[in-house]
Amino acid sequence: MDPDDPAFAGQREYTPFFLRIYDPVILGFLAPAVWRCPASRLVDGYQRHVGSRHLDVGPGTGYFLDRAGLPDAHSVTLLDPNPNVLDYASRRLERLDITTVEADVCRALPLPGTYDSAAMNGVLHCLPGPLSRKAEAVAHVAAVLAPSGVLFGSSILGRSAPHTRLGRSILRTNNRRGTFDNLDDTEEGLYEILDASFEAVSLESVGTMAVFSGSIPRVG
Ligand SMILES: C[S@@+](CC[C@H](N)C(=O)[O-])C[C@H]1O[C@@H](n2cnc3c(N)ncnc32)[C@H](O)[C@@H]1O
Repeated sequence: MDPDDPAFAGQREYTPFFLRIYDPVILGFLAPAVWRCPASRLVDGYQRHVGSRHLDVGPGTGYFLDRAGLPDAHSVTLLDPNPNVLDYASRRLERLDITTVEADVCRALPLPGTYDSAAMNGVLHCLPGPLSRKAEAVAHVAAVLAPSGVLFGSSILGRSAPHTRLGRSILRTNNRRGTFDNLDDTEEGLYEILDASFEAVSLESVGTMAVFSGSIPRVG
């Protein structure tokens, strides 16, 4: 990805080293202790929503797909602009039928066909703001879902959420570095951008994360 692209910073940190420590540090510590949303809560979303043809946007290490209870050879497309992520996750998930696509969800997706489910788990807080720009990313995913398809996922909320002192400090640091761009992301704002692309939206706050799903993609 071009370093001048506004979406560059949100995917830059996923080096092979960071991916090796990601599960214990980010999912094992930060999620439950700082964002107060245990990874098990997010595994539930995968177990509930993954369909026959699944698109995973920003799969990270592949931790959640690995725990989604999928049978061998289940069809999964991994989409990420960062090749380190695609290498790491596809090796971990080799028992599945994996297709990798190096692409940026902020642009129209180079994907043929329609998917039964798509995940954006922990991705929206990494995308460049404002929320109106994140709405376009959600619309790009909605556009490749089947009429009965579902989008699900989670995102860390911004400064209006009840963050702890440590949470607030990590939020500020990550926004300064560009790893996150979510200071102004609110529960209501995320609901609105999902509602713009889906007829039925569910969103709840768990700790300082929004956990969501949207179904019945709006056409056009
Ligand atoms: C915080 S990690 C979440 C990883 C995984 N989904 C999880 O929940 O553990 C963010 C992921 O989004 C990806 N990402 C960042 N910017 C992106 C973009 N513009 N388009 C698609 N994926 C992006 C990163 O490369 C990374 O894989």
